[in-house]
Amino acid sequence: MKYATLLEYAFQALKNSYAPYSRFRVGAALLSDDGEVVTGCNVENASYGLSMCAERTAVFRAVAQGVKKFDAIAVVSGKVNPVYPCGACRQVLREFNPRLTVVVAGPGKKPLTTSLDKLLPKSFGKESLRRR
Ligand code: THU
Repeated sequence: MKYATLLEYAFQALKNSYAPYSRFRVGAALLSDDGEVVTGCNVENASYGLSMCAERTAVFRAVAQGVKKFDAIAVVSGKVNPVYPCGACRQVLREFNPRLTVVVAGPGKKPLTTSLDKLLPKSFGKESLRRR
């Protein structure tokens, strides 16, 4: 699938964002290795700290559906400047693919593509837990 298409899914998900407190709407779309797309949006709460980011919403939805092998994630917000996943989401994404492709774009802006290992270098993961 083209990343432009994955971004379209992310923009669709953005419409469902529930962000009445920050008014910062985010949408994400995860692409699995077999071409499946699972989307997420941020979901805020009156108890602010319970809010969930779009990226983790997408990951948890995917895993609950039995999808755990991801090739790429597209992340978009309602703002002009592109949004990269926050630190917590980087760590959660890293669990499933340390080299995940990350595509970001603002509305009407040229997409930027990077890799999760650039966003989260020298990361901690399941390999670190292995006994030697
Ligand atoms: N947010 C995301 O959904 N993803 C990010 O990568 C950055 C932040 C959400 C969390 C909160 O609902 C709002 O954006 C403002 O931080």
